[in-house]
Amino acid sequence: MDKYEIQNNETERQLIFIDKLSQYTKEYTEKHSRTPAYFIQTFGCQMNERDSEKMAGILDRSGFKAAAVEEEADVILYNTCTVRDNADRKVFGRLGVLKGVKDNNPGLLICLSGCMMQEAGVIEKIKKSYPHVDLIFGTHNIYKFAELLYDRISSGEMIIDIWDHEKEIVEDLPSKRKFSFKSGVNIMFGCNNFCSYCIVPYVRGRERSREPKDIIKEIEALTRDGVKEVMLLGQNVNSYGKGLEPFVSFPELLKDIAAISDLKRIRFMSSHPKDLSDDLIDVMASSDNVCDHLHLALQSGSDRVLQMMNRHYTRDDYLRIIDKLKNKIPDIAITTDIIVGFPGETEKDIDDTVDIIKKAEFDGAFTFVYSKRTGTPAASMPVSMTDEEIHAGFDRVLKTVQDTAKKQVQRFVGRTMPVLVESRNEKDDTMLTGRIPQNTVVHFKGDPSLIGSIVNVRLDEAQGFYYLGTCIL
Ligand code: SAM
Ligand code: SF4
Ligand code: F3S
Repeated sequence: MDKYEIQNNETERQLIFIDKLSQYTKEYTEKHSRTPAYFIQTFGCQMNERDSEKMAGILDRSGFKAAAVEEEADVILYNTCTVRDNADRKVFGRLGVLKGVKDNNPGLLICLSGCMMQEAGVIEKIKKSYPHVDLIFGTHNIYKFAELLYDRISSGEMIIDIWDHEKEIVEDLPSKRKFSFKSGVNIMFGCNNFCSYCIVPYVRGRERSREPKDIIKEIEALTRDGVKEVMLLGQNVNSYGKGLEPFVSFPELLKDIAAISDLKRIRFMSSHPKDLSDDLIDVMASSDNVCDHLHLALQSGSDRVLQMMNRHYTRDDYLRIIDKLKNKIPDIAITTDIIVGFPGETEKDIDDTVDIIKKAEFDGAFTFVYSKRTGTPAASMPVSMTDEEIHAGFDRVLKTVQDTAKKQVQRFVGRTMPVLVESRNEKDDTMLTGRIPQNTVVHFKGDPSLIGSIVNVRLDEAQGFYYLGTCIL
């Protein structure tokens, strides 16, 4: 049996469970004179956002409807993250609150999925302290959501299904997009890098790349459905293609995707500096619809810390890549991730990080205080700074990032740029909010009918990290 037959059979199997759930929701609706509703809360990164869209698609196809607020839901799903300790704490906090909710509404079904469920000790803690949870599954079997939910409803018992490693990629199941005009598209799953602080490789498994033809087919269908922008998703898209026969590199895939007619914008994340090739920079420079934006996680500007982090590049390697990018793509915006307080890090290392931020002139950065993750190599390394020192270092890094970002945003003032209009402005109903290819936000006056289209906007002034502009039709 070849790989595709297995995939198709699993897809068909799941569609049978979607049919069974549809029968259940139909009977529920007749009995209660209302359709059962669901609410999904997503924690964590774009991978999880995309997984949640798939689970929402399964629930929609099974006849559930989306609830506007958690209080109106009959099925609550928390798709969890465990990258830092505070992500875990948020979920446990909310589970505590749901205990009281379930006491008043015993029919409520509480489901947990995602990265935190893959972590050692979490399931035992939930079984002991949160027995009101109905269904728990992990990152490798989200495609089985219909089957697992059906099993829970028909058995009346708590269902726990966690796999300790990945299996095949299952294609062609439903998904419900959050936005009509843009979408995440998984190109690969898992991570092989084992950065010493990071839990992701343990909870997401080894790298697996989707077949190029499946990715292209999905994006073509999305563009037919009105999608203008796709975000290609993977923990390290630059190592896309390993294990595929024939091998296809990420730059080759990107070039093929860029050739899809009517696809206006392509973004991708994340990129690991150790695998970023000249070919990728060339494809970015030569393809009009690949956005002039790169998110390239730095983590630290100190060679000593980068080595302890197992990142496989030096600060000079990183700066060389930035130079090449800026030479070939002069308008490129570069954003990054930085961790402060890694075990063994000193004030001098933080000085190096501050220095590289100034040299790289980032357009933005997510800065994190290091969070110890049990089971990772860094968890057993001794911490050298006090909490106060770490927070002072964090503030210094944050301030430097904000200063460079504010300076960078000034450089396009006065230019007219294409803007993908994403929403009404949250504060002013007469204004719209969108993004330029560099990903910077722009607010401007306009009619809501423009949401989802790309319009030309003159960037009149920069305010902090965003622009105020005028639409030039
Ligand atoms: N694969 C992506 C990459 O390498 O660019 C990163 C994915 S990770 C979900 C997002 C960011 O979380 C990382 O770039 C890192 O800065 C941060 N992170 C990961 N583990 C962390 C930890 N233990 N403590 C603090 N921040 C962490
Ligand atoms: Fe974590 Fe490193 Fe993999 Fe990114 S590349 S997910 S930081 S292990
Ligand atoms: Fe969190 Fe998992 Fe993403 S740990 S950051 S949701 S890959």
